Amino acid sequence: MSNYKIKNKKVSPTGGDLEGAKLIGPFTQILPLAGLSLKGAITDDRLQVIPNGGVLVENALVVEVGDFEELRNATREAEIEEITGHQVLLPGFVDCHTHLCFAGDRSKDYALRIAGKSYLEIAKAGGGIWDSVVQTRQASKEDLVRLLLQRIDRHSKDGVTTIEIKSGYGLKVEEELKQLCAIKLAAASCTVDLITTCLAAHILPRGFLGTASEQLEHIVNDLLPMVKNENLASRVDIFIEENAFNTTDATDYLRVAKQLGFDVTVHADQFTTGGSGVAVNVGAVSADHLEASGEKEIKLLAESNTVAVALPGSSLGLGMDFAPARKLLSAGACLAIASDWNPGSAPMGDLLMQAAVLSAYEKLTIAEVFAALTFRAAKALNLHDRGSLEKGKLADFQAYPCKDYREILYYQGKLKPERVWKLSEPLI
Ligand code: NIG
Ligand code: FE
Repeated sequence: MSNYKIKNKKVSPTGGDLEGAKLIGPFTQILPLAGLSLKGAITDDRLQVIPNGGVLVENALVVEVGDFEELRNATREAEIEEITGHQVLLPGFVDCHTHLCFAGDRSKDYALRIAGKSYLEIAKAGGGIWDSVVQTRQASKEDLVRLLLQRIDRHSKDGVTTIEIKSGYGLKVEEELKQLCAIKLAAASCTVDLITTCLAAHILPRGFLGTASEQLEHIVNDLLPMVKNENLASRVDIFIEENAFNTTDATDYLRVAKQLGFDVTVHADQFTTGGSGVAVNVGAVSADHLEASGEKEIKLLAESNTVAVALPGSSLGLGMDFAPARKLLSAGACLAIASDWNPGSAPMGDLLMQAAVLSAYEKLTIAEVFAALTFRAAKALNLHDRGSLEKGKLADFQAYPCKDYREILYYQGKLKPERVWKLSEPLI
């Protein structure tokens, strides 16, 4: 909870009167998730639980979180948004890794996978990421915007108030730009915040006759400057893997991307190791996947400032091991959990359900899971203005229809938020 104490009934901590302020509550419980460490394990006794809580908001920011009656008595000027029934309030979720900008589906791949074929075998046989590239190239920009808005709407109803979205199903300049423009257009017509990442270095496009390093050079020369100038993305990602890009080429590429002013992130250690080392060496904001990470990679990530992002939706979609989330936390890493929502490896897109399943298998505490879905995921996006409910943070939050916060993971994703607010305004 913030240290601010309201002394004068009419004066807000920002110095203005509270005429535009709004007090929302009472909530059966509020979990502000404030004051928790950015890295390492967190036991549940560290969670602050405010009973009969209220949240005072002004100018889309949190002003104060505390006892509802005390806040009401102290802020008589504030409008009241009354909550009825039992509701537990959490910060809005931040999904720091998705590929929401795609057309079509890969249900045929999925059928082959559950019948025993591997992701890499399917890719080699012409399915996989390339199939989504073909289907996404066939879609118009307007189609992509419509599909994006549908998926964003679904995600926001699940309590996700900030969504990272990657390109990467274009793989040539005009097609990557089409995807990035579609994300920009969708961002302009939805309330949820979209953080865009250029993943032109997803795989080598079919028919490209040069080397992987030449393709990266082409992206650097002919795409990234335009992306920067037109403000189409703030981040650059690369898939480091056999059949994608190697560690040497990726290191050079990410260094240049950083020089151009992008934050960088890596699809790392999904099937084989190497990517996480590159991420740490170049100072990437995050290393995502990590299913294949071993002791060496865990130590490296734990000692770094790079957020380790687990993507349980991809493990569920591929029927493969989860990232070693428990070991990463115990070693001291900053762990975030994201959906990886994409048409291939992670078609489900239910972030809370995936996090609940991961926590059951990996033995994560509720505090660790909520941290991984909020302020630690925000750190992976280099955002420090959200993810906890305390003075000055964005008023993004969600309320679950239950009496006790422990019910949220207990129902393994079936309990959905009844109310969601973005910048203090109700989304649902
Ligand atoms: O994060 N691993 C690489 N890229 C995506 C999958 C994209 C796809 O299969 O279409 C991932 O799992
Ligand atoms: Fe991904």
